[in-house]
Amino acid sequence: MAIAESGVVETPQIRQTGILVGDEFRSSVSGKTFATVNPATEEVICEVAEGDAEDIDLAVHAARQAFDSGPWSRMDARDRGLLLIRLADLLEANFDELTALETLDNGKPIADARAADLPLVIDCLRYYGGWADKIQGQTIPIRGDNFCYTRREPVGVCGQIIPWNFPMLMVAWKWGPALAAGNTIVMKPAEQTPLTCLRMAELALEAGFPPGVINVVPGYGPTAGAALVRHPLVDKIAFTGEGTTAQIIMAEAAKTLKRVTFELGGKSPNIVFADADLDAAAAGAEFGLFFNQGQCCCAGSRLFVEESVHDEFVERVVVQAKQRRLGNPFDRNTSQGPQVDKAQFDKILGYIARGNEQGASCLTGGARHGDKGYFVEPTVFTDVRDDMDIAQDEIFGPVMSILKFNDEAEVLQRANNTRYGLAAAVWTGDVGRAHRLAHDLRAGTVWINCYDVFDAAAPFGGYKMSGLGRELGEAGLANYTELKTVTMPLGRS
Ligand code: NAI
Ligand code: MG
Repeated sequence: MAIAESGVVETPQIRQTGILVGDEFRSSVSGKTFATVNPATEEVICEVAEGDAEDIDLAVHAARQAFDSGPWSRMDARDRGLLLIRLADLLEANFDELTALETLDNGKPIADARAADLPLVIDCLRYYGGWADKIQGQTIPIRGDNFCYTRREPVGVCGQIIPWNFPMLMVAWKWGPALAAGNTIVMKPAEQTPLTCLRMAELALEAGFPPGVINVVPGYGPTAGAALVRHPLVDKIAFTGEGTTAQIIMAEAAKTLKRVTFELGGKSPNIVFADADLDAAAAGAEFGLFFNQGQCCCAGSRLFVEESVHDEFVERVVVQAKQRRLGNPFDRNTSQGPQVDKAQFDKILGYIARGNEQGASCLTGGARHGDKGYFVEPTVFTDVRDDMDIAQDEIFGPVMSILKFNDEAEVLQRANNTRYGLAAAVWTGDVGRAHRLAHDLRAGTVWINCYDVFDAAAPFGGYKMSGLGRELGEAGLANYTELKTVTMPLGRS
């Protein structure tokens, strides 16, 4: 392993490229593999086993058996929690390797992987480890001489399908609550970024999770993903990704009435009033949009700025955008890496072209950066109208759209005028206004005078077409349990 600077490993060892079924990493039944690519160099990192319906079937049977009759099904809840905490400890012990693997496969700056991704993963698993023995029912005073109580039982075998923007963090958000509640898992990581999930699964076995509790099948959506959604022995699908994919999944899941939870995209309004701390708001506008190359479901991608400070504010964000450092994601000073793949890169450049065609003003950026790797310049558009594509659609890239507004009622109406409802932010010095808007914005998360503040204990999820159900917090557990009511006459005459 080459060590570039203290703690940063540029060429992490690739330990696992197989399909995890039970306690064995294996080749795909078909023998097929697919390449995973370093988006900073466009070079193939390695081949990974390509799962398909047959592999999914094997993994589902392993998960079914572990749920129905393995040691997991009889394990004390507190011991389940300890396994999650042990896994978190092992991830921490392998911090340099895991963050490097994430940067290699995804392209995100190593500084972000180290400061945000893996610390949040570790925190999330510890948080849910603490929940495992606190998932309680109630006793209920029903009519008659009866003893009535509820139990929160695991849903069963959970199919989990995740995207590539936060590969490790999406694993933690899915595994944490599912395992704390006693479910078993078949996970399909994104085809762009399978490597850290496989390594986390290997460490989960080392932590002592019984075979079959966690199974991982890398592969593509329409093959492996669809087979997981179809499988009759899967009880629930948890999915994060694009809304159109969720619609396909929901329609298919309807046939077996699987439980579904979705965490989808957004076009989140970030609203800056003239009375805000403009330094903080400008920093929040930059972070809220450009963080993770703009590949965030909750990106503040509609930046509403009050007219009286609009021009001054635009100047600030343009200066900030120009100062972003694009380049080798393994350089600790890099703040922006490449987009995850060619498809995303092309999609983003397409939106930039449409922004120009439809009359928005591109003040900085707007093109590819360099000639190798999927880098896109930090781009800022002003004169954006609500009906333009760049104000309506999720771009999922470093493209900021700035819209001007005049008053509170107007901006509230415009902010809510979207099919999405994942997140929103309000920057103001007026406490009353902050909470009025926090109540009236139709979004699952509202940040006041901050952006992207995440915590494992705080629920996250979308209104409208941004999702179904909540992740994180106690609310995240609800979607991984079935509620059972038990009633018995006490037999008094
Ligand atoms: P996607 O929804 O196609 O992929 C996400 C996951 O779903 C991957 O693991 C994929 O293999 C799987 N999948 C795809 N089709 C499937 C199917 N028919 N059945 C079961 N699983 C399936 O998202 P994609 O194509 O990677 O990105 C497209 C756009 O979606 C992005 O440009 C972005 O706008 C949005 N997106 C939103 C995310 C979020 O966090 N809300 C994350 C990733 C993408
Ligand atoms: Mg897709």
